[in-house]
Amino acid sequence: SAVGLGNIWKFPYITGENGGGAFVLVYLACILVIGVPIMMAEIMLGRRGRQSPINTMRDLSIEAGHSTHWQYLGWLGVIAGFLILSYYSVIAGWALSYIFRAASGVFTDASVEVVKTEFVSLVGDPEKLVAWHSLFMVLTMFVVARGVQGGLEKAVKFLMPSLFIILILLVGYSMQNGEFNMAVKFLFTPDFEALFYKTDAQGNEYMSWNAVLIAMGHAFFTLSLGMGAIMVYGSYLPADTSIAKTTFMIAAADTIVALMAGLAIFPIVFANNLEPGSGPGLIFNTLPFAFGHMDGGIIFGTLFFVLLSFAAWSSSISLIEPAVAWLVENLSLSRIKASVLMGIACWAVGLLTVFSFNIWSDVKPLADIKIFKDATIFDLLDYLTANIMLPLGGLLIAIFSVWIMSREASMEELDMGDRPGYKLWRFLVRYITPIAVLIVFLNVLGILTFK
Ligand code: TRP
Repeated sequence: SAVGLGNIWKFPYITGENGGGAFVLVYLACILVIGVPIMMAEIMLGRRGRQSPINTMRDLSIEAGHSTHWQYLGWLGVIAGFLILSYYSVIAGWALSYIFRAASGVFTDASVEVVKTEFVSLVGDPEKLVAWHSLFMVLTMFVVARGVQGGLEKAVKFLMPSLFIILILLVGYSMQNGEFNMAVKFLFTPDFEALFYKTDAQGNEYMSWNAVLIAMGHAFFTLSLGMGAIMVYGSYLPADTSIAKTTFMIAAADTIVALMAGLAIFPIVFANNLEPGSGPGLIFNTLPFAFGHMDGGIIFGTLFFVLLSFAAWSSSISLIEPAVAWLVENLSLSRIKASVLMGIACWAVGLLTVFSFNIWSDVKPLADIKIFKDATIFDLLDYLTANIMLPLGGLLIAIFSVWIMSREASMEELDMGDRPGYKLWRFLVRYITPIAVLIVFLNVLGILTFK
C-alpha cells in the first residue's frame, strides 16, 4: 500500500514545485516524528479492533467508555480514500499507457522535445485518458471484488523488489549521464527561502507555510496514513508481530524509494534544462528520455512502467477497501456488487481529473486565493484529500489513541512494555503530532502567523 505513485510520481514533482532541499527536509522530519508514530497508532487500533475502520472505531470507543461518534473518523477515511482513488486511477492510467509507448521504441534516441510531445499528446486527449483510467479502475475493482489474498499479494512480493532494482539502474544512468551533483545539491541543501516564499498572481512575493503543509500531507499520503487503510492491514497483522519494527521497515523502504526516484529524475531535469516545477508530468518527461538513451532501454523502460503500474495497482486497493467493506457490512450487498458500484462511482468522479488536463485545464476554481492561483480541479482534489483530509484523520487518530484509549490498552497492543520506546511513542502522539498538525493548519489558514 505504501510504495506507489506517491513515491515515484508525486514526490519528485512536488519537491520540484516547492524548491527542493528544504521541502525534502521537512518531509523527512514529518515522516519521522508524525508518520512513524501515527502508523504505529493506526496499526495498533486496527489490530485491536480487528474489523473495518468504521466498526473498529465504534467498538474501541465503547471499550474506552466513550461516545461512538468516533466512528465518523472512519467515515472521513472512506470519503478520502474514494476521492484519492478517483484521481490516482487517472495517473495510474498514464503509467499503463507508457508501457506501450516504451515498448514501441518511440523513445529510442528521442530528444526531450519528442518525449514532451508524447506526454502532451496523451494528456491532451480526453478519450485516451478515459480509456486508460477505465482500464485501471476495472483492474482495481477486479482485485477488490475477489479479495487481495490471491494472486496480487503473491505477485507483489517479487515485483516490488524488481521495481527497486530498476530504480537503482536509473540512478546509475543519471549519475553517469545527468547533472548528478546539481541534483544532490537541489535535493539535500535546504533553501528555506524557496520553501516559504512564493509569488502571487500579480507577481508579488509573499510568505506562506503552504509548502510545509504539502510536505506534511505527503508524509501521510506516501505512508497511506490518516484514512484507515493501514488500520485495515493492522487488523490482519498476526498478534505476535512487532508493530514498531514493521512500521520502521515500511517507513524506511518507502522513503528510500522516494529518494531514489528523486535521484533518478533531477539529474535528467538539470542536464536538459527542464523546469523542476513543471508539475505532474515530471517523471513522464524525464525517465523516458533516460530509457531512450541507455542500452536495453526498450526492455528496461517497458519493465519499469509495468512495475510502476503494479505498484499503483497494489496501492489503489487499500484506497477503496474501506468503502467497499462498508457497503458489504451495512447495506448487505455482495462483495462483487459493492465493488462494481464503488468502481463506477469512483470512475465517474475521476472524469473531473481527466478533464483537468485538457478541456478544463484553464478552469482554476479558487484562483482568487493566493495559494490556489494555478490550481486545476485535479490540484484542488489532491490538496483537499492529501493536505487536509489525511492530516485531519491523522490528528483524530492521534487524539483517540492516547487521549481516549487507555494507556493499558495501547501498551498491551504495541507490546513494547513501559519502556523508553513506548514512552517516546506516547509523547509524540500525545503532544507533538497534534500540535504540529494544528500549527501548520492554522498557519495556512492565516489564523496564526510567524514573521
Ligand atoms: N501510499 C500510496 C502511494 O504512495 C497511496 C495510497 C494507498 C494511499 N493507500 C492510501 C494514500 C491511503 C493515502 C491513504 O502511492
